[in-house]
Amino acid sequence: MKPHVLLIEPMMPEVETQLDAAYCVHRLFAAHDRAALIAAIGSSVRAIVTGGAHGASNEIIDALPRLEIIAINGIGTDAVDLERARARSVRVTTTPDVLTEDVADMALGLMLATSRRICVGDRFVRAGGWLHEHLPLAVKVSGKRLGILGLGQVGRAVAHRAEAFGMQIAYCDRDPLTGATYRFQPNLEQLAQESDFLVVAASGGPATRGLVSRLVLDALGPTGVLINIARGSVVDEPALVAALAEGRLGGAGLDVFAHEPDVPKALCDMDNVVLQPHRASATVETRRAMADLVLANLSAHFAGREPLTPVV
Ligand code: 8YV
Repeated sequence: MKPHVLLIEPMMPEVETQLDAAYCVHRLFAAHDRAALIAAIGSSVRAIVTGGAHGASNEIIDALPRLEIIAINGIGTDAVDLERARARSVRVTTTPDVLTEDVADMALGLMLATSRRICVGDRFVRAGGWLHEHLPLAVKVSGKRLGILGLGQVGRAVAHRAEAFGMQIAYCDRDPLTGATYRFQPNLEQLAQESDFLVVAASGGPATRGLVSRLVLDALGPTGVLINIARGSVVDEPALVAALAEGRLGGAGLDVFAHEPDVPKALCDMDNVVLQPHRASATVETRRAMADLVLANLSAHFAGREPLTPVV
């Protein structure tokens, strides 16, 4: 008897084929009536496979009495109630390390795309504008001041890349990071004040909700650029939209949003904003490596062994 797995969001087709070979997979994302699917199969499900942003609601977890493991295809645990899982002895695993480089690459990509107006230039050429007009000059990235909120693995990888751009790097975190050579600034508003770019690389969840407030955005200022490759919840999104609309913030490069996949309409009309549909880890190589970890965690668990990368 194959263990029953609830798959909350799609994965690469070949990964889904591998899942199908080893498990009886129920695809929540494809169900017309999700509640009906959960009511029908809930009592047999022993594993959830999900993404970092989707996680698994308590409503779903509570509807699965035989649940043993939640394998997150990502590093964020903010969309899973870890205490609830612990209380029910449900294991939770993530995919650390393998996505760090891609997420940091996306941060640099968004910095360059936003400041150098790469998407604006692309739209301009495609629309034939180059034949009779010049675009205004863009803004330089190399040598500028970079503030990083959250110097975890991703934050450090962003800093490492930014060194090659000759940037002056400082960071804000709960405490100074042992061994980090970058300047520590415990006050986020102050860090924003001293930065040309502020990259959000902090985990989501209650501890960081709304940290990038109106005051922080105003401190970053009319020439400052906000980059978010972490979680939409870390930024006060209405305050961000207002700051951009009123010219109090110079620009933004955003891979994540408060209510994905809904993106505030106002952002879509702004040329100083570059938008991505939560794609920082979405490369063939990285999604394959993430999936390998998900599969390895599941098979270890169902073989009675310790999962490779547990958080609970
Ligand atoms: C993924 C993420 O896009 O790692 C995370 O927490 O949010 C992203 O890497 C996601 O997990 C896949 O849906």
